[in-house]
Amino acid sequence: MQHAQEDRPLDLVAALARARSPERPGPDTPAGGAARAWPGPPVAFPKAGPGDLDVQALLRLSLAASDGSGRLRPTPSAGALHPVDTELTVGTGCSLPPGRYGYDPLRHRAHRLGPRPDGTPPGVTAGLSVTARRTVSHYGHRAWPLLLLDTGHAAAALYLAARALGVSEPEVRLDGLAGNPPAAVYIPPPDRRGLGGSARFPKSSEPTPAELLARRSTPPPLPGTPSQDALRAVLATAARAGTGDLRWCAAVGPPRPGLVEPGPDGATLRLWAAGDARPTLAAWAAGQAWIADVGAVLLAHGCPADADAPHIRRAHLRAGFAVHLAQVTARRHGLAARPVGSWQQADLGAALGAAPGRDWVVHALALGTRPADEENTT
Ligand SMILES: Cc1cc2nc3c(=O)[nH]c(=O)nc-3n(C[C@H](O)[C@H](O)[C@H](O)COP(=O)(O)O)c2cc1C
Repeated sequence: MQHAQEDRPLDLVAALARARSPERPGPDTPAGGAARAWPGPPVAFPKAGPGDLDVQALLRLSLAASDGSGRLRPTPSAGALHPVDTELTVGTGCSLPPGRYGYDPLRHRAHRLGPRPDGTPPGVTAGLSVTARRTVSHYGHRAWPLLLLDTGHAAAALYLAARALGVSEPEVRLDGLAGNPPAAVYIPPPDRRGLGGSARFPKSSEPTPAELLARRSTPPPLPGTPSQDALRAVLATAARAGTGDLRWCAAVGPPRPGLVEPGPDGATLRLWAAGDARPTLAAWAAGQAWIADVGAVLLAHGCPADADAPHIRRAHLRAGFAVHLAQVTARRHGLAARPVGSWQQADLGAALGAAPGRDWVVHALALGTRPADEENTT
């Protein structure tokens, strides 16, 4: 990942340490364009033939802005600044002719950049990178973890859109090894691997296009403790999708406030620590007071202070990816949900009496119950 304005490599380890510090960002700076200006004329999206991957539908369900300001998109973004840029490498079996394209989410258009590289597989590979300036414009030095989380959310949006179009196993590349692009999603044509379920998203819970387009983050407040069943489902989705370096728990409010985590069987919740963590979480999350009154907060934690750049990338990309899937699960269980990505001094392990610097909050999803009348209208 490069610094947007100065085009020099970023020291991600130092950037994360600074983002976690109590230092406050300065005044806003100009965000620049809301989407990357790709060279060359836009190409029309042709109609998909039978068996082809419908690239237009894929992007409409995942990344396309639905209003002129670009604010409303199927994927959430810290501060609605949408820093993620998408470059498509298209092989055979797609509605677009093979080649490399830049995607403009504001106009929902692709710009042809050149021929496909040798060895391009059938289907589409979406390379996700960021224009850091958009997020830096508001969050300053706190932007860096948010940029990676946003990229993870965008990868999840593409993953879910592919599933909704009948692709059984989109391949999500979030290993953190590449700095640029930090993430990619490979989507084979729907007929290559056939329709069917996968371990991560069983067929019965396949997302629908309408559901993906309806996803929104509930504005605060988010009162109401979720039921055990709903909380278990949200935690299970997150823990399955955000494996590896991360651990998952949820801070719940009354009547029995505490931190719960998935039990060893994955089907139950067990108490990790008693007591109400929500006021502390509100203070750690840039002082967002509303978090003290939410029903529950799903937390991704880990990423120790001595993590190297690939580890930092991997943990944040995975956390964004998993929280996105968890948000869709929460909605299915009738919950209100809002991602929370800005965390300072959020050393969860130390707060619970373990060694400091080992177990930080990386990302979160605030949860509440939804009033019945809202359920009926959305
Ligand atoms: C990585 C990330 C971090 C976020 N952090 C916060 C946050 O700290 N507080 C908050 O109120 N909303 C937060 N949000 C929610 C965004 O504000 C929201 O996604 C954006 O305004 C767009 O609205 P929508 O999700 O309804 O489309 C975050 C979203 C993402 C993806």
